[in-house]
Amino acid sequence: MTDKLFDIKIGYASPKNPIAVACMAGITDSKFAAGFKNAGLIVLGGYNLDKPTNDAARKEIERGRTEFVSDIPLEYLKSELEAAKDFTTIAVNVRAATLAPYIEAAKIAKEFNAILEINAHCRQPEMNELGAGEALLKDIPRLCEYIREIKKTGVVVSVKIRVNVVNDVELAKAIEKAGADMIHVDAMHPDGADIGVIRRIRNATNLFIIGNNSVVDFEVAKEMFSHGADMVSVARAMRTQPGIINNLVSEISSIQSMTGWYNAPKHICGGGDLRALAFCCLPVKPCALHGALKQAGINAEEFMKIKTDFVKKTPIEYGEGTCFGSMAWCCKITKPCFLRDSALESTSLSDVEYMRTKKRLSEHILKQSKIRK
Ligand SMILES: Cc1cc2nc3c(=O)[nH]c(=O)nc-3n(C[C@H](O)[C@H](O)[C@H](O)COP(=O)(O)O)c2cc1C
Ligand code: SF4
Ligand code: SF4
Repeated sequence: MTDKLFDIKIGYASPKNPIAVACMAGITDSKFAAGFKNAGLIVLGGYNLDKPTNDAARKEIERGRTEFVSDIPLEYLKSELEAAKDFTTIAVNVRAATLAPYIEAAKIAKEFNAILEINAHCRQPEMNELGAGEALLKDIPRLCEYIREIKKTGVVVSVKIRVNVVNDVELAKAIEKAGADMIHVDAMHPDGADIGVIRRIRNATNLFIIGNNSVVDFEVAKEMFSHGADMVSVARAMRTQPGIINNLVSEISSIQSMTGWYNAPKHICGGGDLRALAFCCLPVKPCALHGALKQAGINAEEFMKIKTDFVKKTPIEYGEGTCFGSMAWCCKITKPCFLRDSALESTSLSDVEYMRTKKRLSEHILKQSKIRK
């Protein structure tokens, strides 16, 4: 049922829904993943691609961590992709001490239409000493060189990061500029996920964003979606709540069926990201809109013109009886409003069509914005 509900595309990858399994080294192999085929994406691994990282992983095992190790790492990677190829969209999270093994892994991943996820996240000292994992966050030029070279294979590239290690916005911009397709954001924070980082990355880049950390129920997932995540992933909770992936898929599918925009932003005044300019009123009063426009590099007159021009010949141009005479200025469908609902009824516009038009409007506004350039 969910296969056609979402229209998600990242290069050659088309995840069937926006819920992902995040990897856990030594745990999320093809055997473990077989229990989570309903996810839109399964990130297998993390796999160690060369002798130095496999030796480092062996040392980690000695001190009690779980890891996947192999004397024939690339053959092992291939066998894992073979075993999981019919599950759903697959990514492989990988680490290596030099660029060459990443290139080999990228070629293998591409053969399987899988995504290659560069692990710039692991904090284990044995890996960091080799320049792998989080060491890549602290050496952005090398990370970007890896991305550029790996992209030459044609593989879809994700970069797994941990937030608050370096300047996240600068990091995300550099990752985008180097040619990566996706950023998988572990928004780790002592009080739960740092949602503000997801919003800042959303505002600054066009990258496909996977939000991660502390997703234990749909409330947390919804916060990530409404602040800019295109997808949300789960790691630890899969072990304590094996039904979590199915629950999240079911909840987000209902939202998509009812509204047509599963990750619609909160209003700007509710803390939403800049996509929410599509829901803003005419700029006639002092409110959070003005700060958001400044951030987007658009002045109030330009904003009025962008919206008014866009809605011409769309059904949301109309809006007699609404606050500003056109649904161009109307709120999100989840905000109850009988004025807008009666305008929708008079134009025979469904809630889903209304929200899809608002989504296109938001994309149009952000194309004119200077912030993502
Ligand atoms: C045992 C374990 C192993 C992990 N191994 C990896 C790894 O190899 N690569 C990686 O990018 N993240 C790894 N992670 C991080 C998870 O993918 C995820 O980012 C983190 O656990 C936060 O998400 P959660 O709150 O849903 O667990 C690991 C996490 C755990 C608990
Ligand atoms: S313009 Fe309206 S929706 Fe936008 S921030 Fe101001 S009050 Fe909120
Ligand atoms: S008519 Fe309703 S939906 Fe439209 S701007 Fe006014 S309060 Fe918002």
